Amino acid sequence: MKLLSISKICLKVTSVTFFCFCAFIVEAQQKSIQQKVDSVLKLMTLDEKIGQLNQYSGDWDFTGPITADGDKQQQIMDGLVGSMLNVTGVEHTRMLQSLAMKSRLRIPLLFGQDVIHGFRTTFPIPLAQSASWNPELIEKAERVAGTEASAYGVHWTFSPMVDIARDPRWGRVMEGAGEDTYLGSLIAAARVKGFQGKGYGDTAAVMACVKHFAGYGAAIGGRDYNSVDMSLHNLWEFYLPPFKAAVDAGVGSVMNSFNDLNGIPATGNRYLMREVLKGKWNFKGIVVSDWGSVGEMVNHGYAANQRDAAKIAINAGCDMDMESRCYKNHLKDLLRTGEVKLSTIDAAVKTVLKTKFELGLFDDPFRFCKASRQDNQTHHPENRKVAFEMAEKSIVLLKNENQVLPFNKKMKKIAFIGPFVKSVRDHLGFWSMEWPDDTATIVTLWDGLKNALGKDVELKYAKGCNVNDQDSSGFAEALQIAADADLVLLSMGEARDMSGEAKSRSQLHLPGVQESLIHAMHQLGKPVVLLIHAGRPLIFDQPASQVEAILYAWWLGSEAGNALAAVLTGKYNPSGKLTMSFPRTEGQIPIYYNHLNTGRPASSATDVNYVSAYTDLLNTPRYPFGFGLSYTDFSYGDILLDKTSFHSGETIKASITITNTGDYDGEETVQLYLRDITASLARPVKELKDFKKIFLKKGESRTLVFNLNVEKLKFYNERLEYKAEPGAFELMIGPDSETLKKVNIQYN
Ligand code: NOJ
Repeated sequence: MKLLSISKICLKVTSVTFFCFCAFIVEAQQKSIQQKVDSVLKLMTLDEKIGQLNQYSGDWDFTGPITADGDKQQQIMDGLVGSMLNVTGVEHTRMLQSLAMKSRLRIPLLFGQDVIHGFRTTFPIPLAQSASWNPELIEKAERVAGTEASAYGVHWTFSPMVDIARDPRWGRVMEGAGEDTYLGSLIAAARVKGFQGKGYGDTAAVMACVKHFAGYGAAIGGRDYNSVDMSLHNLWEFYLPPFKAAVDAGVGSVMNSFNDLNGIPATGNRYLMREVLKGKWNFKGIVVSDWGSVGEMVNHGYAANQRDAAKIAINAGCDMDMESRCYKNHLKDLLRTGEVKLSTIDAAVKTVLKTKFELGLFDDPFRFCKASRQDNQTHHPENRKVAFEMAEKSIVLLKNENQVLPFNKKMKKIAFIGPFVKSVRDHLGFWSMEWPDDTATIVTLWDGLKNALGKDVELKYAKGCNVNDQDSSGFAEALQIAADADLVLLSMGEARDMSGEAKSRSQLHLPGVQESLIHAMHQLGKPVVLLIHAGRPLIFDQPASQVEAILYAWWLGSEAGNALAAVLTGKYNPSGKLTMSFPRTEGQIPIYYNHLNTGRPASSATDVNYVSAYTDLLNTPRYPFGFGLSYTDFSYGDILLDKTSFHSGETIKASITITNTGDYDGEETVQLYLRDITASLARPVKELKDFKKIFLKKGESRTLVFNLNVEKLKFYNERLEYKAEPGAFELMIGPDSETLKKVNIQYN
């Protein structure tokens, strides 16, 4: 793990000795931290040790049931609590840290919080951010989130969530980076770097926690907390790499998961935590349970009782118990009977103490709670700028018939209709902080567009309907203002509490009477532009055919109104691309682009002749992975190769020329996919292996060169060895996962 003071010292030495010196210093610092940890550990009673493994939630905010079991404040003073979650703000953290300073050994508390898409400044939800395909910008956003959170006394964020998700019924798809492992891994590393900044010594950084280890995104039927049944091959090939990327990026902690994986709850899964994470990957940070998940192993039918659950979890490698109290209530007795070894408890305690030393909390327990830093980070204008850029780049243009967007000068009267036009909390989305002054933290769509359009355009508003009920009494007013307008702008979607934890849904159509309202607007014969706000891919096949343009606008956060206004008016040319396949209907789920070919693949979207297809449904998604339009057009030349076959140690160069043939300057994400045609295991029909973002002025052309080496061909074979197999591959390049130019290459 990087330490801030090290880099300062290292700057002063010459480049030749630089790396050796750094390595030496890191080792020395780690050594000295280990010595300090050991010396504290020697002073600790068993109760105090177990206390370090115990994490409570503050009472004023929680994401699960709180067990009322006496006075937490007294327990902190007794040294029986190692960490608190859901406690933020200088006042609260300082108050609780002061209690910890009254404990016998004055071991500071660690404050954790779910900082999922921004802290005070709210960013687009993570799934939306992933649509930017811009890890650098995502890193910048997390830098802001980490800086703000740390200024509010937070040391530790339970983020990033890197669960690969192929099922939009699962409400938690909003927290991740979508269905692709390669992109998900890049984003996982970017988020960790963003949160952890210059390292733990930096007060403007928080420790990241990659979650949920592992497999949670594959909950059966998309039902939250459900079981996961998956081959080890799929686990290693698709679900584990983003975790590995986070570990390689230096993530300080890992959260295990609510689900069982092939019958063994992740929280008690020795294979995952001891063999893979702490073994093969040599991870040295904290492993924390999910909320109450230690105790939930009893419900799973894997632990006989809470005592058994504590034994299983700690022996399997779970260091800290979030909110189940199993460790607090049972570890002492488990040690007495020899079911848990002292060395196991000590190893977990050392990890927690080490982190507290690295964060500098032993030097100054209050270093993260300074009122001046908190004030400075509240409504910081620079943070809003990053939120704005992130929001603009998250928006995906799905349809734009007759170039109805951006608004043209002829549009003098616009009817702005829908339940989200003036809404505040919905645009902040699930997993956003509750603030007393929410209205000050968000630019509504109404305000954003009104400011952008100025006085030249008459903007009229009607709510039309609520998000999710059967009341259509508002239609008449909406139709009236629409009838008088040049263009109808509809703002539809899901409310903020319809995607997120415990928000699985089986019906993903636009809720309530929204589809009927769209239909009614369509019948007016005016151009209709549809904005969709949601935490997941929704289903809107029918409405899509009744509007001229669609912008998928997610939950965009604090700058929602300004970002959408920039896109609608053409100040920003949309560049987002979907990171999940959008189904036509719920019956297609799970749906993902990197599926296997099967023995009877359909020859076209409509082929149903004894092939792998639905007889009552097209075989393709409504919008494929990687898809997103621009106001301009990009044409793709043919793929040129410097050679058609290569050996290990060689690189193939694949080049392609992209031309902006439309009327606007714009950004394109050029995607490269590979298919291993024949292998020892059936391989996906395509897999994203690389992408490049380019900005082209109107009329401009540029040739991009992709370098492909053997690493890109590797996969986990039947024995879980990560290897490339010689043979033929298809190399594809294009603007999305379906519109691709193809060539064949050979690996010998
Ligand atoms: C439960 C969620 O699964 C997890 O992601 C979150 O970090 C904890 N609650 C704490 O809020």
